[in-house]
Formats: sequence, C-alpha cells, structure tokens
Amino acid sequence: MLTVTVALEERAYDVLIGPGASRELAAALPSGVTKVAVVTQPGIGIDVDPGVEHRVFPIGTGEDAKSIATVEELCRAFAQWGLNRADCVVGVGGGLVSDVAGFAASIYHRGVPVVYVATTLLAMVDAAIGGKTGVNLPEGKNLVGTYWQPSAVLCDTDLLASLPPREWRSGAGEMAKYHFLTGDDLAALPIEERIARCVEIKAAVVADDEREAEGRALLNYGHTLAHALETAGRYDLRHGEAVGIGLVYAAELAHHLGRIDADRVAEHRAVVSSYELPDRLPSDADGDELLTLVGRDKKALGAVTFVLDGPAGLEIVRGIDHRDLVAALEAIT
Ligand code: GLY
Repeated sequence: MLTVTVALEERAYDVLIGPGASRELAAALPSGVTKVAVVTQPGIGIDVDPGVEHRVFPIGTGEDAKSIATVEELCRAFAQWGLNRADCVVGVGGGLVSDVAGFAASIYHRGVPVVYVATTLLAMVDAAIGGKTGVNLPEGKNLVGTYWQPSAVLCDTDLLASLPPREWRSGAGEMAKYHFLTGDDLAALPIEERIARCVEIKAAVVADDEREAEGRALLNYGHTLAHALETAGRYDLRHGEAVGIGLVYAAELAHHLGRIDADRVAEHRAVVSSYELPDRLPSDADGDELLTLVGRDKKALGAVTFVLDGPAGLEIVRGIDHRDLVAALEAIT
C-alpha cells in the first residue's frame, strides 16, 4: 500500500493507494467515532465496513443529483438518524459522491469529519483530494461549495479493473494533465505508482495554496476549453475527454503565442493519445460558441485567462487576445 500525506498542518491527512485500500476504512476513521453515515450511489458495487454502527444514505446518479436538494435531503436524514459532530460521514464513490458528501459533511452541524473511499480514477487523482466540495445550480456547475478537507482518502485500485472504459477515460484526462505539471516521466510508472505520484503532485499544490489564491489554479491546466465544451452541453464528451482536447488546445495556444515549440505541442498530443483521449474538437463544434463560453469561465476573473505552458513551465496568462484564441482553435479543428 502506498501512502501520500496532504500536509496541511492540523488538517493533514493520508491518502492510501493500493489494492484493498477500502478495507482500511475502520483504521482510517478519526478516533472516537461511534457512528458512520455512508453516502454512496446505487451500482457503486462495494460494501464498506467502518467497524462501528453505520447506515447507508444513497444519493442519485447523474449530474442532477449534484444539487442543494440532495444535500438538504442528506442533512435531514442525518438529523433524523441522530448523527452528531463526534460522528463521521464516509463518501463511497466517484467525484460526484465526494463533492456532495463532502459538502453535506462540511455544513452539517457546522462541520463533521468526512472520509472518502474513492472508487473511480477521477476521484483518486483529483476529486477526492484537496478538500473542494460543491454542487451545481441551474445557473452553472459547482457554483456553491466549501473547502473541507477529508480526514483520510482510500483509493482502492482493485476497483479500477471493473471501471467502464469511458469512466476510465474520465479520470485519464486528469492523469494526462499531471504529465505537464512537473517534469516527471509518469508514463514510466506502473498504474498504482502513477496514481500515487499524481496524488503527491496535487497534495503539494494544495499544501501550498489550499484556497486557490494563485498556484492551485495550475491544476486547471487544460480545463478552460474543457469547461466550455462541457457547458455547451451538446457534445458527447466525458470530463477527461474534454480535458484531453483542452490540453492540446492549451498547447497550440502556447505555441501560437511563442511560448513553446512544435515538439512540445507534439508531446501534448502524444500524451493525450496515449490515454486514448480525443485531441481535436468534435466535428460539429461551434467555435464561436466555445469562445463565448471561454470568456465566461468563472475562473477568468474578468479577462480571458489560461494556464499555459512556457519556458518556465505552467503559468497563469491573463488577457489573451481573441485572434490568438481563434487561431489555436483552428489548429485543433
Ligand atoms: N480539481 C482542481 C482542484 O482541486 O483544485
């Protein structure tokens, strides 16, 4: 079993990565917990044993379940069961479960501990790590949320064998992103070590800038165009597939701006393709609509902002000209 610590002083926690990690749940609970509310979805396919009194609180599947209504239902059910601040919420599932269970845990009784059992690649390398929780509003995704660090995260790599291919690709986009955050040769690592290295890279970024004052935004590499593709809502793309396209777009944009050379763009395309992710826009993509959505990205803070590669590695670049955005889009059409 591999262990990575997210070093946040009194809120530091361990992430365990390996086959059978979910069986470590009882040991991973904060001390003194006597009751556990297990939040999960139908079809997740694992039973966890926290070793203390527990009850399962299922939530819906699909993006509609990521709502304030679901969080209210959970909090009311916790109250009816008598969960209190000395107890613990355990989220068992992918990113939707950790976002919703974490948000409910962060506001119930003004905050109860939460532990995640991550069952998807996306949750293991991204969603369950770093303490972001949240739900959608009709006006946009992830518009309401909190920073609430878990007490532990268990990444059970046994579960990856049964992950459907598109669910795998959803996480693979995030993994592809980590290839460009540091100079590591992630491709040379076996899968468990690669997941652990991704967690380690994210843990270091989060420990440095938990609340995204600046550095944590680098984790959004490839996500600006990806979010536009997802927000448009009519392309059949999983998150990681959209991130694959977004990574290549960011590379083409950096190349167009003279920040990186053609070899580095080719490296982006090769990494994205190695995860069987698309590196071009869908054939029916509407470039004008996508660039309008890019302009509205909630992380842009008033000017078109991208995380871009360059001679000094990834950097936040603000105020990019519309003509450059169009030229880079042509390169991925
Ligand atoms: N998924 C990006 C972050 O956790 O900051």
